[in-house]
Parts: sequence; structure tokens; C-alpha cells
Amino acid sequence: MQNILDAIQAGDTSSEEYASIALPETYKGITVHKDEVDMFEGLASRDKDPRKSLHLDDVPIPELAPGEALVAVMASAINYNTVWTSIFEPVSTFGFLERYGRLSEYSKRHDLPYHVVGSDLAGVVLRTGPGVTAWKPGAEVVAHCLSVELESPDGHDDTMMDPQQRIWGFETNFGGLAELAIVKSNQLMPKPDHLSWEEAASPGLVNSTAYRQLVSKNGANMKQGDVVLIWGASGGLGSYATQMALNGGAIPVCVVSSPEKAEIVRSLGAEHVIDRSAEGYKFWKDENNQDPKEWKRLGSKIRELTGGEDPDIVFEHPGRETFGASVYVTRKGGTIITCASTSGYMHQYDNRYLWMNLKQIKSSHFANYREAFEANRLIDKGLIHPTVSKVYPLAETGQAALDVHHNLHQGKVGVLCLAPEEGLGVRDAEKRAVHLDKINRFRGI
Ligand SMILES: NC(=O)c1ccc[n+]([C@@H]2O[C@H](COP(=O)([O-])OP(=O)(O)OC[C@H]3O[C@@H](n4cnc5c(N)ncnc54)[C@H](OP(=O)(O)O)[C@@H]3O)[C@@H](O)[C@H]2O)c1
Repeated sequence: MQNILDAIQAGDTSSEEYASIALPETYKGITVHKDEVDMFEGLASRDKDPRKSLHLDDVPIPELAPGEALVAVMASAINYNTVWTSIFEPVSTFGFLERYGRLSEYSKRHDLPYHVVGSDLAGVVLRTGPGVTAWKPGAEVVAHCLSVELESPDGHDDTMMDPQQRIWGFETNFGGLAELAIVKSNQLMPKPDHLSWEEAASPGLVNSTAYRQLVSKNGANMKQGDVVLIWGASGGLGSYATQMALNGGAIPVCVVSSPEKAEIVRSLGAEHVIDRSAEGYKFWKDENNQDPKEWKRLGSKIRELTGGEDPDIVFEHPGRETFGASVYVTRKGGTIITCASTSGYMHQYDNRYLWMNLKQIKSSHFANYREAFEANRLIDKGLIHPTVSKVYPLAETGQAALDVHHNLHQGKVGVLCLAPEEGLGVRDAEKRAVHLDKINRFRGI
């Protein structure tokens, strides 16, 4: 692996030289093991510890299939999907791999007794499979996590509609929390040249998701002046949604859970911030019943901040805990756009507030290549900035995932894979200097 790292660090290695670097037989990757999927049985979700289930293993390099690329991963990032994988909730990801494995001779490679996880990367292309013409060895890249087969007509309008749509590193194997990764070449995008490896690796999944969910016509199609309620505004998705709302001339109302988090979103430029812990909202009276008075209290707080306006868009992902409140506070004709259910997927809301006020609930899931590319372009142009707060070495991925699982983090948590230290990989120092304060805004908090 050292010769690969040396070639990357040299900075002037040619494509031909990259193509001729001898590859090792195995690489180090973060895995979960199929024979451990029951290890947390009987424990509450919070007590399931990713440090026990995530392993650093040496695994063989799989053969490349047509249309694929082998990437040397310099850095990756923690996404909530790795938390789900590591606690085997709501289901073990081995079911995804088994199903994918039944599709074809090539997809069979994914069905293994271990799952190399991770859905973000920044690194360098080492090899390309048959049929790849758009990318060459040596290209410095980031990868989005949409894996599609596109053999059916369904995905040819919006690739998210492909019946064989999967999230790489979650529903497929050979993910980004590793020294090497295998992606389809249509997952690749140019690495923003003013960012370090760990900064470039961190936005991918959440930035693309927030872009489709909030900005795209496939999502909430946000426009100037829209009031946007953003749950978890300093978290992975929220830290990008907040930047997009501000960039797009909308008016974010940011919900967070501590004064420190409130300060971060204020530093992004948000004026309207709600600390849900300080307000002490209790949307549920007990396990089965919600408290509409608490929904109303949230709605009043939003009106107090906005001068009497209700949200045109609610950016939803906490799910069960907040969904009733989200439906209630949305303005007449507004949109609740949901992409997740962190606190529980069996939602309950009062449908009278939805239909009588012509609101709509719309779903969103990751992003198609075009949307992911547009979102990455915003990073490249310095219009949206990474929100890395902390970076761990690959061997400590379990701790990194535990931080996210226990909501102890801000923005994004980065992971160094082949990169021996932080701060490497910047190719345009001048462009970086212009944005440095913004790039570092979440650092060390
Ligand atoms: N469908 C997709 O394509 C897609 C893509 C990305 C993520 N997701 C999902 O979206 C969810 C969030 O991902 P993320 O990366 O943003 O995670 P994250 O970094 O943990 O941020 C989520 C934020 O939500 C807030 N939150 C958590 N539980 C809450 C609750 N019960 N009530 C209110 N707020 C709560 C927390 O902020 P405060 O404590 O400050 O309020 C937390 O920081 C995860 O379930 C993830 O799997 C889905």
C-alpha cells in the first residue's frame, strides 16, 4: 500500500504510472461480520456499541467488473447509515448483499460473510474496468453513493427510480471506509481542488441528499423567501440544508439541541434558531399519544421568530418524534419533505391538519448522478463548505460511529484511510485561502 500512497503524495505521478503500480492482494477495510448480526440482541438501540461490531480487517481485492473503478481511498466520513449497519438496525445489511448477489455473476462478489461499509470517499482512481472511458487512473475524485444498473426503463428519467437502485457501502459491499474501494464509474466526480482529502470526502452523501430534498424539482423545489424549518440544523444533513437555504435566499428556522449548536448555525448566517432542549418540547405524552399543545407551542415559537409566518417547507428526518409537529406547523399549501426516520419509522400525525390545509408530504432519498454532481459543484465553487468537526484514523471508526450514534458530534465526522495525516491533498491553495474561515467553521467543536 505504501507505493500507492507514495504515488499519490508525489503529486506528479502520470496516469500510466498509476496504471502500472502493483496492487497488493489484500487491503484494510472496516467491516461488520455476518456471524455477529445477533450480538446486540436484547439491548436498547442506544446501548448497541459500534466499537464492538465494526472491525478493521484485511480483505481481498475483488476483481473489477465492467463499468467499475478501483479507488485508493485517502479519506472517508461517517454517515448515519454506517451507524444503522453497525447496530444491525432496522435490519442487518447482509440481507441487501444476499439479494444483490442473486442478480448477476458480477454482483455475486458482494455476497460475502463480511461487509466493507462506508458511503463516502475522496481518493485517486487506480484501475478502471472494461468499458470505462470517462475516468483514467490518477484522477483525483470523490464518489457519490448511488449505485444503479439502469437495465430497466424506469430509471432513465431519474436514476433514483431504477429498480436496482442501491446505496453503495450500505446496500452494496466494498465501501469507502477502507484503504481501497470499488465504485461504478458513474459514481465518480472531480475532487474539489481547494480541499484536503478529509474535507472533500465529508459532504458527498449528506450534501447530495440535502440538495435533492430541498432544492431539486424532485424534492421541495425551494425558492427565494421560503421559510424552511430545518430539524438537526447543525448535523450531517442539516448543516448542508442550512447553507443551501441561506444561499438560495430562503429563510431557515434552525432547530438544534444545545447553545453550542445554536452558535454554529448562527455562524453559518442563520438568524432564526430554536434550541429544542431549552424549549423542552414533549411532542409525545406517552408511547401512543401526542400532545397537540406542544405542536402549537413549536408553531408559536416559529411565528415569533419569523414575524408571524409558518414554514413553506419542513426538512424532516427525525421521524416519529417530530413528524406530528412537522405536519402541524407547515403553512397552508406547504411541504413536509422527509428522507428518514431516525427516532422511529412508524409515524403518527393528525391528517386533518394535512388535508384541510392542502399540505403535502413528499419523500426524498439520496440523489441522482446529476443532482449529486450539481451538489459537488457547489462545494467546488466555494458556495457550500464542508462541515468537518473531527477526524479519526481508520482504526478508530468504531468510536467515530459511536459519536454519531450518540449525537455527540457536530456537522460531519471524517475518517483518514490512506492519508497519514489531516490537511493533505490541497491542490489550489489560493482558492482555499479565500474560503479558509468557512471551511474551518465546524473544526474542533
Ligand atoms: N434517505 C437518504 O438518502 C438519507 C441520506 C442521509 C441521511 N439519512 C438519514 O437521515 C438521518 C439524519 O442523518 P444525518 O447525517 O443528518 O445525522 P446526524 O448528523 O446525526 O444529524 C441529525 C440531527 O438530527 C437531530 N435529531 C436527532 N434525533 C432527533 C429527534 N428525536 N428530534 C429532533 N431532532 C433530532 C440532531 O440534532 P439536534 O440534537 O441538534 O437537534 C442530530 O444532530 C439519519 O437517520 C440518516 O440515516 C437519509
